[in-house]
Amino acid sequence: MRIPLDRRAQVPLYRQLEGWFRHAISDGAIPPGTKLPASRALATQLGVARVTVTAAYAGLEADGLVVTREGGGTYAASRQFGVGGAQAPTSSTTLPPWQRDLAEPEDDGAGAGEGHLGQGHLGHAPPGTRPDFVGFAGVGDPRMFPAADFGRTLQDVLRRDPAGALGYGADRLGHRPLRETIAQLLASQGVRADPEQVLVTSGSQQALALVCQTLVRPGDTVVVEDPTYDLALQLFRSIGAVVVAAPTDRDGMVVEGVEPLLQRHHPRLLYTVPNFANPTGACMTGARRRLLLELADRYNTPVVEDDFAGDLRYEGRAQPAIRALDPGGHVIYTGTFSKMLMPGLRIGYLVADQPVLGLLAARKRVLDLSTPTLLQHALDRYVTVGRYQAHLRRTTRAYRARRDALVAGLRREVPELTLEVPRGGLFAWPLLPPGVTATELLPVARRHGVGFAPGPRFHVDPRYGQDRVRLNFAAHTPDEIARGAQRLGVAMRSMPKTS
Ligand SMILES: Cc1ncc(COP(=O)(O)O)c(C=O)c1O
Repeated sequence: MRIPLDRRAQVPLYRQLEGWFRHAISDGAIPPGTKLPASRALATQLGVARVTVTAAYAGLEADGLVVTREGGGTYAASRQFGVGGAQAPTSSTTLPPWQRDLAEPEDDGAGAGEGHLGQGHLGHAPPGTRPDFVGFAGVGDPRMFPAADFGRTLQDVLRRDPAGALGYGADRLGHRPLRETIAQLLASQGVRADPEQVLVTSGSQQALALVCQTLVRPGDTVVVEDPTYDLALQLFRSIGAVVVAAPTDRDGMVVEGVEPLLQRHHPRLLYTVPNFANPTGACMTGARRRLLLELADRYNTPVVEDDFAGDLRYEGRAQPAIRALDPGGHVIYTGTFSKMLMPGLRIGYLVADQPVLGLLAARKRVLDLSTPTLLQHALDRYVTVGRYQAHLRRTTRAYRARRDALVAGLRREVPELTLEVPRGGLFAWPLLPPGVTATELLPVARRHGVGFAPGPRFHVDPRYGQDRVRLNFAAHTPDEIARGAQRLGVAMRSMPKTS
């Protein structure tokens, strides 16, 4: 073991040694259950007295970071705190004051398996549930990621242009050929974009973050459709925005009711997910899109159009993007390859006009210099050789069948739910029967081997939404979905009846 000890430091050697092990165990470099070196051997190796090592181990044991087993041997203890790899806390006496003064991050529930990006997202069972758990949470099916195909594309890119693919990338808006490709994809959906209006971002989440950081100051108001994407809500609040809810119906934001909100709150931003919204699956009508633009113009309010899953359409006619109706300058459009391809690429984009585009690009540059160049090159190649379109067709076919399996399963097994059939996207948002709340149902459902995202998570005011659950149908096969629906029905009927 290479443990740096500073013999001239004021801190005694045993404390230095203890501190080194403390960090290594806390951050997982020494996994739980690992046997630590015998004190005599380590003392010899480090050239210190044996008592230095035993004193260090004693300090670790006192804080529960190691255990001494009968028969000898000191082992890294299993983590006591958190789930899913959360770090064991460092004892507060060893934390510097600036750390101690920080507030604990709020638990977003991700580690519990039904979180947005938690284990449910990956299709794994949350801790403590059965291995065949059907988590109707998360957003996509990792089993469908075209890993081998994409791997070949990566190799191809590295062979053709290693220097270009492994540098920072010369272009402040992102890899120019990828921006041209994105512009072409958008044109096929009726959105006219010059490649010079496209900024490649690290996922569309970064696009949203850049827009907020650039346009919204603490105390400013952001108007959102309610319910909406939970991590957008968290993002807006993380920069101190006041989030104001615009009501929704089966056609998304009730834009007809938005004008009084604009008059009252003078928002700095209007955020909408007009296609297959998260969590409702709703699509905004063309008339509402036009009205929203009129209002944005009249009240001088930028619109962020988050089109995270617009290509996953199973039936019906697409409405024009709000950006496509924009006479100029009102709408910042965000898109992503996360849902149509793979979220781990972390490649999204935004389309905006100058001067805001320049500000967004400058901010991105100071935040992360660039989105990984290798992946930008590979994605561009993957799309231009037609692999992306083929994958999208396959995915759309599979997700449509999964949507159908969910609808059929719920109608058969949980007829007490009221369900609007989503025409695309990833989510269904059924209404629970009277007397059943989402947060009470969740632990019961989990015990039966099925999960979901409870409604309140997506509401501006989490006292609302207890009558809804968000079910992701994309992450599971039709058989798994049928099993999940059956379990949900059993869980529902085992709920205590309230009058
Ligand atoms: C509505 C919506 N917008 C944006 C995102 C961000 O996705 P990404 O950053 O992977 O592009 C998500 C992720 O689930 C989402 O649901």
